[in-house]
Amino acid sequence: MALTLRRTLAAASAAAVALLAAAVFSLARETAGAGCAEQAALPPSFVSRNISDIFDAPAAPTFQLQHTSGKALLGGAPKSLLLIEKSGYAFAHEAPVWCADSDDVYFASNAGAPLGRSNLTTNNVVFKVNLRNLTERAAAGIASFASDVHAVPIDSDSVQMTNGGTSYAGELLLINTGRGSLPGSIALVPRATPQQPQVLLNNFRGRGFKSLNDVVVHPDGRILFTDADYGVLQDFKDETGMWKAVWSFDPLSGDLAVLDASLTTPNGLTLSPDAKTLYVTETGFARGFYPSDPSVAPLIYAFDLAASARHATNRRVFAVAESGISDGLKVDTEGNVYSCDGAGLQVYSPSGTQLWRFVLPPIGCTQVVLASGGRIVLLAEERLYLLQVAAAEPVPLAELPRHNRIARS
Ligand SMILES: *[C@@H]1O[C@H](CO)[C@@H](O)[C@H](O)[C@H]1NC(C)=O
Ligand SMILES: *[C@@H]1O[C@H](CO)[C@@H](O)[C@H](O)[C@H]1NC(C)=O
Ligand SMILES: *[C@@H]1O[C@H](CO)[C@@H](O)[C@H](O)[C@H]1NC(C)=O
Repeated sequence: MALTLRRTLAAASAAAVALLAAAVFSLARETAGAGCAEQAALPPSFVSRNISDIFDAPAAPTFQLQHTSGKALLGGAPKSLLLIEKSGYAFAHEAPVWCADSDDVYFASNAGAPLGRSNLTTNNVVFKVNLRNLTERAAAGIASFASDVHAVPIDSDSVQMTNGGTSYAGELLLINTGRGSLPGSIALVPRATPQQPQVLLNNFRGRGFKSLNDVVVHPDGRILFTDADYGVLQDFKDETGMWKAVWSFDPLSGDLAVLDASLTTPNGLTLSPDAKTLYVTETGFARGFYPSDPSVAPLIYAFDLAASARHATNRRVFAVAESGISDGLKVDTEGNVYSCDGAGLQVYSPSGTQLWRFVLPPIGCTQVVLASGGRIVLLAEERLYLLQVAAAEPVPLAELPRHNRIARS
C-alpha cells in the first residue's frame, strides 16, 4: 500500500514538474523581452490539496462545468432531485431502460453484492417507476420506495440476475448474467406480459456465457453485448469456461461474431448516434469479491464499428474514469457520452473532452439513462436521482422492422 502510494506521489510530482516546466516555458515565451517588472498571469495550479483522498469531492451532490463548451448542455440552472432512497438495499444498480410512450424507467437491483439482496439462491429484481408521477410526488416530498417502485413480475428461470437492458421493438430487451447453473441469456420481455419472456440467446455453440453484462441495439437490429465475469467473481454464477468478449448477434439468422476480446473485462457499451463508433468500458480494475487490480486502467475505449456491425477496429482510449471504474454508458443525439463512475456522472464530448459532471458522493453512480427534455436518471445503489439539465436528448430508437418479425413469431 505504502509502496503504491509512494509511486503515485512520485508519478504525481513528475507530472507536476512537467506541467510546471511547460507553464514556465509558455510564460517565458509570452513575456520574452518584457523584463521581470511586467505583470503576467500565473498558470493554474493542479496540485491536490489532500493527496490521500482518492477523489477530492465536495460533500454534497454538485454540478460542475468542466469546459465552456458544456455550458449549453448544462444550462444556467441544472437541478437534481433525489427521487427514491432505500437505506440498506441496492435496489437501483443496473439495466436502466426509459420507455418514451409511458415515461416509465425500468432498472434492476444489484446482482450479488451484499446490499443487493440477491445471491446464488435468490434472483435480483427488475423494478419500474413512472417518472412523470414520481417527479410530481417527489416534488411534494412524498415519493417512497414502497409505493412508487414496482417489481416487474418476470419470474422465469430464463431471466436470472438481470444486468443490462434496452428498449427493443417497443419491448424490453434484458441481458441476464444467469445464476448457479441457470444460463445467462438475452431475453425479450413484453412490457404487458413480463411473465412470458422470449429467450433470444443463451449460448455460443452450446457453451454458456460467462457473466452476460450489458447490451445495446444497432440500428440494423443486431444486438451488441458484453460478457464479463462478475457473476463468477461474486459467487453466484457457475464458471462456464467462456472467455470475456464483446459480441455481435443477429437475432434473425443467429449469426454471432466477436467484436473484441482484447479488454480484460468489457462492461458497459453504447453506440454513437450514427452507429459508426462503439464505446466500451474496461472494468478489469473491479474484481467483485476479490481485491481490485490497479494494473488494469479504468478506461472507456472507442472502436470504429463496421456498417455490418460484425467488426470493430481501431481501438483507442476515449476517456478515463475519475474514480473507481466507468460502468454504464449512454449517448445523446449530439454524440456526447454519459458515463457513471465512482465520482458521479461524467459527460464527454464526442472527442472525449469532459464537458460537465455531477459529483455524487460518497460512491458515485453505476448507470445513467436519458429520458428526454434534459431529464437524466441516475442509479446509485440505495438512491435513484433525477437530473434536469438544459439539453440531453436520447437517440431515437431505430424502427427495427426486421426485429418485429421475431417479436411476432
Ligand atoms: C485528507 O483527507 C482525509 C479523508 O477525508 C482526512 O482524514 C485527512 O485528515 C485529510 N488530511 C489533510 C492533511 O487534510
Ligand atoms: C441470499 O439472499 C437472500 C435475500 O437477501 C437471503 O435471505 C439469503 O439468506 C441469502 N443467502 C445466502 C446464502 O447468503
Ligand atoms: C401516481 O400517483 C398517484 C398518487 O399521487 C397514484 O394514485 C397513482 O396510482 C400513481 N400512478 C402511477 C401510474 O403510478
